[in-house]
Amino acid sequence: MRSNPLRDPRDRRLPRIAGPCSIVMFGVTGDLARKKLIPAIYDLANRGLLPPGFGLVGFARRDWGDGTFATLMREAAQAGARTEWSDTVWEQLAQGIKFVPGQFDDDDAWRNLATTLQELDEQQGTGGNHAFYLSIPPALFPTVISKIDEHGLADQAKGWRRVVVEKPFGHDLESAKELNQLIGNVFEPETVFRIDHYLGKETVQNILALRFANQLFEPVWNSQYVDHVQITMAEDIGIGSRAGYYDAIGAARDVIQNHLLQLLALVAMEEPISFDAAGLRLEKQKVLRSVRLPEDLDRHTARAQYVAGWAGGKPVVGYREEEGIDPGSLTETFAAIRLDIATRRWAGVPFYLRTGKRLGRRVTEVAVVFKKAPHLPFEHHDVTELGNNALVMRIQPDEGVTMRFGAKVPGTTMEIRDVNMDFAYGGSFVEDSPEAYERLILDVLLGDPPLFPQHEEVELSWQILDPVIKHWSRKRTIDTYSAGTWGPQSAFEMLERDGRSWRRP
Ligand code: BG6
Repeated sequence: MRSNPLRDPRDRRLPRIAGPCSIVMFGVTGDLARKKLIPAIYDLANRGLLPPGFGLVGFARRDWGDGTFATLMREAAQAGARTEWSDTVWEQLAQGIKFVPGQFDDDDAWRNLATTLQELDEQQGTGGNHAFYLSIPPALFPTVISKIDEHGLADQAKGWRRVVVEKPFGHDLESAKELNQLIGNVFEPETVFRIDHYLGKETVQNILALRFANQLFEPVWNSQYVDHVQITMAEDIGIGSRAGYYDAIGAARDVIQNHLLQLLALVAMEEPISFDAAGLRLEKQKVLRSVRLPEDLDRHTARAQYVAGWAGGKPVVGYREEEGIDPGSLTETFAAIRLDIATRRWAGVPFYLRTGKRLGRRVTEVAVVFKKAPHLPFEHHDVTELGNNALVMRIQPDEGVTMRFGAKVPGTTMEIRDVNMDFAYGGSFVEDSPEAYERLILDVLLGDPPLFPQHEEVELSWQILDPVIKHWSRKRTIDTYSAGTWGPQSAFEMLERDGRSWRRP
């Protein structure tokens, strides 16, 4: 029998199981839905966390019926599911799967959607509770949001109505504000769920557990002990089939504006008075408001594009040769930025953020690098191999935490070298971590908001990034790095100037 801690009779926590509801998916033919969202819905069902009264409605410009759609969804679920496959679970889920064909501006299709939802309520018992999941390009948002409104689908008289919004939340502060206003005209703030899937990751939530459940770390979590913080999100993949999206966006907008600034906020924030949405958001916002950009952006940021090189032992093309990319494109596939936080806790402690496609390997980590001990009572030659102490939170892969410190090399002399002390999720817990989207979709269905950034956080993040992007956009050239390396020379120089160096993850 599969173990499910939520069902363990010794576990007094109430199981977090969603009540009757349906999800209407816009953008269901896209990559995200196929690879992540549909498999996550299956995994939730398989873990017993979806109710029998559950519906999944696809709305798209395809000539499909319910049957074809269900078959395609089954293929996607089977290909991407984390948990074992069960025909029984799928068949139960498939009873609530419906498809509405049509253009997003076609009122007949919307009437059809309204009828379909009503039928699901009556036949499948979805209770009038509907989540509208927008996994679509932002240009389509105005149409979809206003049609939801016009057709009365946001009306909460007969059940709850929620909207789930995938990034990008705009492309700068102004467009983010417009988008937030557009959504805010139709949905109440507590019914809007903005997805930053990094917040759904166990290891990201563990930053809070590590900091606030222990006595060990918090006393040294400040400028007295910390030299600097490095946040790295490296990917070995290129841009795949997302040329259209990526070339208009670039690395900074794609992941620094959201994932990396959220990580920074969790690492830097004060202890919240509670872990509810209001408590968390307040502390994250305070950090984001205190972020300061360096005056000289040329010296303290780096951006670059990958050129041909290697990935997984195979030669790969450069960014400008990728299918669908303008050969003269100046879009960055690598970005690094130094940020400072103007608070007593963090004064003088730089936070270095870097991300890139086609780097040496896939790794996301947060490294808190400590100052050297103020005095070393050893001979100089005994400590030449001693670096800074560091606490590294490994977000993915090899999820865990490493503490790096000096230890005596066995032998007759007092030679000291760095060693690692390791916590690995796989070694300490038998349960596999759920995928981020399982957690986030379940939270949407339960109406549980702490892991979803509110519009203030989104706008504050753009406020930080806008001047950097504007500065970069004035340049007529861009640095390069070979695929499979750790980024451009300018990124290394950026830290060398501060007397520091990037960790080799
Ligand atoms: C997405 C970005 O938000 O995160 C992608 O748009 C990126 O470009 C992806 O590849 C990475 O997610 P993960 O969970 O694999 O780190």
